[in-house]
Amino acid sequence: MTQSLRILLVSSEVEPFAKTGGLADVAGALPRALRALGHDVRVLMPKYRGVDRHTALSTVVPRVRVPIGERSTEGALLEGRMPGDIPIYFLAHDHYYDRPALYGTGEADYLDNCERFVFFGRGTLEAIRALEWTPQVVHANDWQAGLVPVYVETLYKDDPALATTGTLFTIHNLAYQGTFWHFDMPMTGLGWDLFTPAGLEFYGKLNFLKGGLVFADVLNTVSKTYAEEIQTAEFGAGLEGVLQYRSADLHGVVNGIDYQAWNPATDRDIAKTYTADDLVGKGACKTALAEEMGLEAEGAPVIGIVSRLVAQKGLDLVLEALPALVEAGFQVVLLGAGEPKLEKAFTEAAASLRGRVAIRLGFDAALARRIYAGSDMFLMPSRYEPCGLGQMIAMRYGTIPIVRWTGGLADTVAEVKPARRTGTGFGFKETTARALTEAATRALATYRDATLWRQVVRNAMAEDFSWQASAKEYVALYRKAAKAAGRGHP
Ligand code: ADP
Ligand code: GLC
Repeated sequence: MTQSLRILLVSSEVEPFAKTGGLADVAGALPRALRALGHDVRVLMPKYRGVDRHTALSTVVPRVRVPIGERSTEGALLEGRMPGDIPIYFLAHDHYYDRPALYGTGEADYLDNCERFVFFGRGTLEAIRALEWTPQVVHANDWQAGLVPVYVETLYKDDPALATTGTLFTIHNLAYQGTFWHFDMPMTGLGWDLFTPAGLEFYGKLNFLKGGLVFADVLNTVSKTYAEEIQTAEFGAGLEGVLQYRSADLHGVVNGIDYQAWNPATDRDIAKTYTADDLVGKGACKTALAEEMGLEAEGAPVIGIVSRLVAQKGLDLVLEALPALVEAGFQVVLLGAGEPKLEKAFTEAAASLRGRVAIRLGFDAALARRIYAGSDMFLMPSRYEPCGLGQMIAMRYGTIPIVRWTGGLADTVAEVKPARRTGTGFGFKETTARALTEAATRALATYRDATLWRQVVRNAMAEDFSWQASAKEYVALYRKAAKAAGRGHP
């Protein structure tokens, strides 16, 4: 029997309201796919500065009082609409969230991030109590929402609105854990009895992500390969023990991408639209991109990169490989923002390889689209990658991914087999500039065979990374969580 569920998805980032990475894409797109399956899904996020540019807001709970340690502070719950007419709640507290950035500026995180996300976690529970609508499942995402399952299972477990609420916790990136010094523990309102290795303690610190891992009814991450990888010391970021312990409840569900939002046939930000059957527009996009970025080798293959500039993404390998790639005949465009060290290194590399390597620093959604559309290949040499959306968006735009075989990259890209004319991209295993260059060289050989290349482009564009299938897998996990919490639908 398929009974519809009431689901509250809690995320610190949601497209189009606030985004630093793929979490926002997922929280923006999954709800619509769940709605299409007939579920009553709603979303909750902080009311960051500027969210009201995207929706009209109304106040649903004028006063949400949230205990923070010995004190308490007051916020409010507002409601708006996401694309697809999905209700979205914003937890408002201007002192915490009306700031220029989500987590911090430049090199430093905001000093009060612990307090800001204790408020978010506990405020979520207080908001649910105040609402007339009660979710059967709360779907908490990443460390910012890590305390939500903890509160559901502890301080709020006897509350009538929450007693039978199931929790799913999704790990989008295990390396961001939200760790704070132990003196912050009282701020959570949770007892010191939870500050143990079996609870929220992690090498003497308070760890929000671990809270989610320990307390949620069901866990998942965003690809099957990453779900395996994080149970090993190499990828477990110190939490592999907890994940092994919970392995029966830990699932892998690969992300989709929003097929309406990412569509070369309708994209308004690209020079000319195109489809798999008519790729003329893609050529125009390439020409326009070369002009915009100042690439000078007409007709030479363009490798695009759109990425957060952080160690995870393996961009040090790109820096090392750049001279060899240019030597081989490639041009490279990069759009990214992040660690100042990497920003500086790429700026210098672009200056010394002018005309062949071009970079733009910053977050620019429209330029990102022009790069997805105007490049021939898309490079993601990640050291680890929970899922990765860039490679899927690239394929949707007929741009061939070159990836390191890890996490979701291994699950979504298939190596090109020239003899069989199959495959959608090129990959390498070793984390070296040399392995990267070898994969790029294979891509180049294929690129030079125009008919074969067109076939590979068609293969990539024919892949289906829409949310439909994955949304069904989420529903199965929600049912499992609801059942674990005592409100099963056998
Ligand atoms: P992650 O979430 O680890 O950053 P993903 O590949 O899952 O990696 O998602 C990244 C998302 O953020 C993609 O939608 C990508 O296009 C976008 N993105 C990353 N950096 C930028 C940038 N500098 N400007 C615009 N979009 C970006
Ligand atoms: C994280 C991961 C990325 C994933 C995204 C959405 O930011 O780094 O691989 O695609 O979350 O799940």
